[in-house]
Parts: sequence; C-alpha cells; structure tokens
Amino acid sequence: MKLLLLCLGLTLVCAHHEENHDVVTSNFDMSKISGEWHSTLLASDVKEKIEEQGSLRMFVESIQALDNSSLLIRCHKKINGECAELTFICDETEEEGVYSAIFDGYNEFHIVEADYNDYLILYAMNSNKQKKTQVMVLLARKPDVSPQIKKRFEELCKDRGIPKENILDLTNVYPCSHARGNPGAQASSGQ
Ligand SMILES: *[C@@H]1O[C@H](CO)[C@@H](O)[C@H](O)[C@H]1NC(C)=O
Repeated sequence: MKLLLLCLGLTLVCAHHEENHDVVTSNFDMSKISGEWHSTLLASDVKEKIEEQGSLRMFVESIQALDNSSLLIRCHKKINGECAELTFICDETEEEGVYSAIFDGYNEFHIVEADYNDYLILYAMNSNKQKKTQVMVLLARKPDVSPQIKKRFEELCKDRGIPKENILDLTNVYPCSHARGNPGAQASSGQ
C-alpha cells in the first residue's frame, strides 16, 4: 500500500513538473522573447490609467531584442479616438533585466515570468510627477491564453496589491482595426 502511494505521489510530482517545464522566472533569454505578442490581460492599481481613455492603455504588438541589449517594442494605442502606432526603444537600466521607457513620465519594467512560446508577464512602474502607478500585462503568442495562465496572472497581480477588479480582459478588444477605415462612419443618428 505504501509503495503504491509512493508511486502515485511520484507520478503526480512528475506530471506537475512536466506541465511547468517551460516556465522561466529568472535569467531570461531575451532573444527568445522576440517576435509577435498579443495583449490579453492588462492590470493596474490605478484603473483609470488603463481604461478606455487611460494613458497607459496599450496593446503590445511585438518585441524585438536588439544586439546592444535594448528592446524595441511596438504598440498600438488610441489617442484622441485615433489609432496610433508607437515604437519604443527601451534601454536596459543599471539593473540587469530591468528596462526603461519614457512615456507618460518614466517607466521601468521587467519580466516576471515567461514561457517563451506561450506567454510573458511584464511588470512596470510608471512615475509621473511623484505619482507612481503599477501596471501588469499578460502577453500571449496567440490571441488568447488558457484559464490557468489567466489565474496565475491574477495571483501575481494580487501579490503586488492589484485586485482582480482592476484586471481588464483585452482579448476581444481591437484598438485599431475599426479606426483604420473610416473613423467618422459610426456617428449616431439619435432622435
Ligand atoms: C541600441 O540600438 C538602438 C538602435 O540602433 C538605439 O536606438 C539605442 O539607443 C541603443 N541602445 C543603447 C543602450 O545604446
């Protein structure tokens, strides 16, 4: 009986291990984060900053690790109702793995967790005139991720004091595809 339980236990440990074998939480290989990404969940302790008109509401499209250890990040963002493509060169700070970008003040960010072929969780601290805002984003290689990964993201947000109600699901939100064609076409003819 004991042996059977031990076997069962080992099987469970192995199965669990295998499930997580690609998840990296330190010493990230930045070349492996290059490529296209989709913003799936976006969270902040200051929710207005990531809501419809919020300055930090951004949709990451791609990340490219440059030879000089800087990152090139392409995003889409609605500015005054119009879609804009933003490109950031983010230099590595003195701290390894921590990058900086100037946008709506000063931002420092780092990767919290990654499974290079599946998802990437970024944590950023925005500082603007003494005000600090935390932002977390879950990027995915596909337009959506599994519920388990979303749950994991919620936990990591909670660890940093960001409650569940401050997490926005962007998987069905298209920042630009509608704006590109004819932005004025939707004018309502209310009576
Ligand atoms: C790295 O290269 C990019 C593109 O050439 C440049 O814009 C950026 O300033 C460079 N970063 C550093 C730290 O030199």
